[in-house]
Amino acid sequence: MTQPHILSLPDIGSEDIGRLVVAEGANLPFAIKRAYWTFDVPSDKIRGHHAHYELQQLIIALHGTLEMTVETPDRVRHTFLLDHPSKVLYIPRMCWREIKFGHGAVLLCLASMEYEEADYIRSYYEYVKLVENTTV
Ligand code: TYD
Repeated sequence: MTQPHILSLPDIGSEDIGRLVVAEGANLPFAIKRAYWTFDVPSDKIRGHHAHYELQQLIIALHGTLEMTVETPDRVRHTFLLDHPSKVLYIPRMCWREIKFGHGAVLLCLASMEYEEADYIRSYYEYVKLVENTTV
């Protein structure tokens, strides 16, 4: 099973001209089919609360901080603090995620599939039933 992890992507630049991180081709675990971004999230709201049957994602805090909790099918909860635009979190399929936005945070998601509601598992009870009965 592939674990969620921070990707190491080319980070180009320097202190005097600024930095640029590249997500393309062979550096990525999947081909990007969709991008979306989320912002203006009150810091007392937790977003996410779902898993995906097939979708894989890269999550980046373009601004501010994101506290990510990612539960894998073996029921281990991993936490990641995305507090810099150079940190790119890979989330494999069949992981339950919860996301806490810091003040003013902007989340960019690069995704492996176009939006499909049927790919969501929105009930934690259903998620646990699925992962306890299948090998991912
Ligand atoms: P959702 O993925 O549940 O957001 P989050 O994980 O940040 O809590 O999506 C929120 C709503 O937006 C939901 O009604 C589905 C819709 N949506 C789209 O229509 N297209 C998209 O690409 C995404 C990501 C969401």
